[in-house]
Amino acid sequence: STYRIAGIPGDGIGVDVTIEARKVLDRAAELHGFGLEWTEFDWSCERYSRTGTMMPAEGVEQLAPFDAILLGAVGFPGVPDHVSLWGLLIPLRRAFAQYVNLRPVKLLPGTTSVLAGRSAEELEMVIVRENSEGEYSAIGGRHNTGQPGEFVLQESVFTRVGVQRIIRYAFELAVNRKGRVCSATKSNGLIHSMPYWDEIFAEVAAEYPNVASEQCHVDALAARMVQQPERLDVVVASNLFGDILSDLAAAVTGGLGMAPSGNINPPGEFPSMFEAVHGSAPDIAGQGIANPVAQVLTGAMLLEHLGRTGAANAVTTAVEKVLAEGAVATPDLGGTATTAQLGSAIAAALG
Ligand code: NAI
Ligand code: MG
Repeated sequence: STYRIAGIPGDGIGVDVTIEARKVLDRAAELHGFGLEWTEFDWSCERYSRTGTMMPAEGVEQLAPFDAILLGAVGFPGVPDHVSLWGLLIPLRRAFAQYVNLRPVKLLPGTTSVLAGRSAEELEMVIVRENSEGEYSAIGGRHNTGQPGEFVLQESVFTRVGVQRIIRYAFELAVNRKGRVCSATKSNGLIHSMPYWDEIFAEVAAEYPNVASEQCHVDALAARMVQQPERLDVVVASNLFGDILSDLAAAVTGGLGMAPSGNINPPGEFPSMFEAVHGSAPDIAGQGIANPVAQVLTGAMLLEHLGRTGAANAVTTAVEKVLAEGAVATPDLGGTATTAQLGSAIAAALG
């Protein structure tokens, strides 16, 4: 069979790393007896600066028929970050009901954690971030502009369906992992939204008597992620809290150049979209030195989502093999290899 994949390389290093991910995925598909048919879209901040929009008005309709989307990163000096977020990422995540942002982190061979002395096992966890509502809401506004009483309101939206489905997804994941879920809350400070989140967490937890559940204030949880990461496995969090915790989780393990993520529509009704956690890195864009590992592992998540577990595992194993050998490494890994050299080494390690 052949899967239709939409590629959106985006800006900066998004372009460099997406080419390498494609190289690796194509090789994995060839070896595992299926096809990937790629269609590329130039949607980006670069497009925005030429045309005034991140994507065409019918962008969502264009992507709907694809089996999955592989996105690089968007972001360009001079284009405000809210343009790329609200002009592309958020509309796609919402139109395709990609209500799960899944960010697995683990310490890869040949890399060192800032938490020296921790084993890979202790540092393995997955952040399940709510991706469709919560604190990232457009509701609100500025009032009494220019007057002494000027103020802004920024509303959060938590729906019963939205909170239930993300928490249930986390528990389902925990069943096949270490059987532990920790929920990020802040019900002492946020007195409407977070008590509601906690209430639904308790209801869903009751459906999973074999999964150990706990909740933790997000500030204490951040500290725990650094001091006692071994106590965490599946972490479920609202949109804002999950955004922050997942970058922290990536940073305490292998760093941003190694962290994959998926925006997932669990029923498979719409395409899911896979993207590395890192951004377009304007500081190193165009130099051919970006680390492609995060995007390659993002590609492995895409294959897993398509049900191609064998090919997905092969990609992960190939990455681990090349990193363990250490002969081909980009500058962030302490080497001198280019993005393309590391991508090719991973593709070659597939066999
Ligand atoms: P960033 O992740 O692009 O870069 C942070 C630092 O990490 C930089 O020093 C960069 O060189 C380094 N880095 C990141 N990925 C790397 C890789 N693969 N290999 C080696 N080094 C790597 O974050 P920053 O600088 O905050 O954002 C830059 C732009 O990217 C902004 O416009 C931002 O809005 C956008 N962005 C886009 C995202 C997306 O498309 N989903 C996510 C995060 C940021
Ligand atoms: Mg983020």
